[in-house]
Amino acid sequence: MNGRLVAEGEARISVFDRGFLYGDGVFESMRAVGGGVFRRERHLERLRRSAGEIGLELPMPLPGLAAAVGDLLEANRLRDARIRVTVTRGAGRPGEYVEAEGPATVVISAAGFAGLAPALHREGVAVVIPPRRQIPPEALDPAIKSISRLSSVLARREARDRGGFEAILLDGGGNLTEGTVSNLFLVRDGRLATPPAPAGGLPGITREAVIEIARASAIPVAEETLPARLLQDADEAFLTNTSWEVLPVVRAAGRPIGSGSPGPVARDLLLRYREMLRRECGAAAGETGGRR
Ligand SMILES: Cc1ncc(COP(=O)(O)O)c(C=O)c1O
Repeated sequence: MNGRLVAEGEARISVFDRGFLYGDGVFESMRAVGGGVFRRERHLERLRRSAGEIGLELPMPLPGLAAAVGDLLEANRLRDARIRVTVTRGAGRPGEYVEAEGPATVVISAAGFAGLAPALHREGVAVVIPPRRQIPPEALDPAIKSISRLSSVLARREARDRGGFEAILLDGGGNLTEGTVSNLFLVRDGRLATPPAPAGGLPGITREAVIEIARASAIPVAEETLPARLLQDADEAFLTNTSWEVLPVVRAAGRPIGSGSPGPVARDLLLRYREMLRRECGAAAGETGGRR
C-alpha cells in the first residue's frame, strides 16, 4: 500500500478516498505463473494510459510499480497468483466532487491462483445478453480500465440469475461489444472475428496475445462490428481475459452455439495460449532470478 508492505488486516484507506466514494480510479489485473508475471509491462503501460486518460498521475514510476509487484509476490511466497493494482485519486474533501487532496492511493494485492476450475474449459460456459447495455464510449471510454464497475456488476448479476457465467454487452446499436470482465471472439468459417477495440471494449492483453497466436498460425482475424445475431450463428465463440485464458462459450441466450460443445479452434488456441503463458512467464521469472 503506497509503497509499503502491509498485512491485509492492517491495510486501511480513508473513508474519503475518491475510489471508495466515486469509483474515481483505475486498475489492472495480472497473472503470475511459476514466479513470472505475464506481460507485466503491457499491463503497467495500460495502467499508465488509463490513469492519463482520467488526469491521474501515477505516484510511482512504472519500474517502481513492477518492483513492488515482485516484492509482494516474494513476501507472500506466491509463484502462481492473481495480482491487482488499484490506483485512486486519493482522499478528497467531504462534499467536494472534483477536489482531491491527494496523493493518489496505490494498493497492490495478490492471491494464489492456478487457473479456473478445469471443467469450465472442458465443457465451456453459457452467456447471457442482458437488456443492460455497454456504457457508451462517449460517456466513458471502454479503453479506460476504471474501477467504476457498477453497471458491469449489475449485468453480471443479471446474467448469473439467468444461468449465465458471463454477460455479453451490446452497444446502443445492438452490436456485440465485450463481456463484463472479458473480450469476445467468434469463429466463423475458420476465421476469428472480434469487436474492434477500443470502440467495442477494453483492448485486453489476452485478446492481443490470442490475435498474435492466431496470426502466427495463419488463422485470419478480423476486428469488426458484429451484430448480436452473429453470436448464435457462430461456429464457435470464446471469451478471453487474464484469468480465464481462452474460455469456450457453448450457449448464448439459452441456445447452443455450433455443436454446443467447445470447438476445435478454441481448444487449439487455449493450448497455444497456455504454451505462450508458460514460455513468457518462465522467461520473466528467469530475468528476475526466479524471484518474480
Ligand atoms: C471489461 C473488460 N474487458 C476485457 C477484459 C480482458 O482484459 P485482459 O485480457 O487484459 O485481462 C477485462 C479484464 O478484466 C475487462 O474488465
